[in-house]
Amino acid sequence: MALSTAQTGESMHSSTFASRYVRTALPRFRIPEQSIPKDAAYQIINDELMLDGNPRLNLASFVTTWMEPECDKLMMAAINKNYVDMDEYPVTTELQNRCVNMIAHLFNAPIGDDETAVGVGTVGSSEAIMLAGLAFKRKWQNRRKAEGKPYDKPNIVTGANVCWEKFARYFEVELKEVKLTEGYYVMNPEKAVEMVDENTICVAAILGSTLTGEFEDVKLLNDLLVAKNAETGWDTPIHVDAASGGFIAPFIYPDLEWDFRLPLVKSINVSGHKYGLVYAGVGWVIWRNKEDLPEELIFHINYLGADQPTFTLNFSKGSNQIIAQYYQLIRLGFEGYKDIMQNCRDNATVLREGIEKTGYFDVVSKDSGVPLVAFSLKDSSRYTVFEVAESLRRFGWIVPAYTMPADAEHVAVMRVVIREDFSRGLAERLIADLTKTMADMDAHAGKKAVAAEPAKKTVREIEKEVTTYWRRLVAGKKSSLVC
Ligand SMILES: Cc1ncc(COP(=O)(O)O)c(C=O)c1O
Repeated sequence: MALSTAQTGESMHSSTFASRYVRTALPRFRIPEQSIPKDAAYQIINDELMLDGNPRLNLASFVTTWMEPECDKLMMAAINKNYVDMDEYPVTTELQNRCVNMIAHLFNAPIGDDETAVGVGTVGSSEAIMLAGLAFKRKWQNRRKAEGKPYDKPNIVTGANVCWEKFARYFEVELKEVKLTEGYYVMNPEKAVEMVDENTICVAAILGSTLTGEFEDVKLLNDLLVAKNAETGWDTPIHVDAASGGFIAPFIYPDLEWDFRLPLVKSINVSGHKYGLVYAGVGWVIWRNKEDLPEELIFHINYLGADQPTFTLNFSKGSNQIIAQYYQLIRLGFEGYKDIMQNCRDNATVLREGIEKTGYFDVVSKDSGVPLVAFSLKDSSRYTVFEVAESLRRFGWIVPAYTMPADAEHVAVMRVVIREDFSRGLAERLIADLTKTMADMDAHAGKKAVAAEPAKKTVREIEKEVTTYWRRLVAGKKSSLVC
């Protein structure tokens, strides 16, 4: 950007862009008095954004960072469509309804082939969870009122999940959390069912722990709760938070019973923007039946035309994520999703084995579940995972380090989420860079390495050993990447 003062009409001293460079502080608190040229605005913002991390190297996130250019084109074309103008954009509304139907069928909702499913597109799983929670709360209150019982102390039983914590706080529901313990990082169904009482609006299970990717045992939870309901006369239902797992389990664990095949599962949420393979901004909530979504929560608006029933927290939002979700569902089909999920799982295995091979880490994630690798240091007396993560950033990698929630908070882990765009080539580089990082950490700590004899080896020797091992492993595996 090289605007002359004559072009901009601004003086050398007062203009932010009097020459090539910014000469005054950027506006941070107040809207500026004067306009600036559009290319100057572009340059200022673009320059600053260069300092954000590279989304493709952000291994912290489950959220999609790559889509096909054809889909990008569709999304850009719809960037000016407000989803809430349903009468004006009926096709977009129709596409959302088709997505709801397809996802409901994927989750084995008890509906006929041509029947419309009950569900809605949301901004993400968090909004979906708020809506599902509200439906449970209202159903529970209605039942209690009809029975002439108090309905002012609802509670929800769940494992560790900030979304449910948020729901509980915002919508005045007591949160009964099943505590995690070291080595067991998902909700224990037995403990959960013990905590259920007559005021429990639902038990929320998680299919794909944010911490370790592990699937909770929803089938066992269902069976235990069926027995408890029969014994007590209560009618406690289950919600499955399948934010990550909802687009994984149907494809690569088809025999796992976690969805509407289980009678007490009344609603399920899933993030379209995670393994649904759409950019950030779309989630879904599906109810088993019409009866599971109290009619009084459905809001009828007569906005810009016809009557439109809605059940969302927000009215206006972009249409493009809905369009992109429909693109992915029809473009990939069952076959494509299955291939991609399988490939992610294979890459997770390769990465896990490479990380174990360095000798520095214990892997705490499981082989099945969401494809991710969570690992802790075998010896954190000389440096911590936080320092390792920080050091890895110099190669460009963004790998989060965090402590586990209450009762297991002394365990600190790093986590790499395997998304579709994290290829085997990148997995190989990450292992190599992690190996270099660990050698540096040892050198800086000024002590011998903790792993089985690594201090006697040079960095080159360790690298070579890991790479040879990795190559041998990969050679036997077939690539199934679709896109
Ligand atoms: C289990 C679980 N539930 C809910 C959420 C929130 O999802 P979203 O970011 O789509 O709102 C997450 C986010 O990672 C999650 O892992």
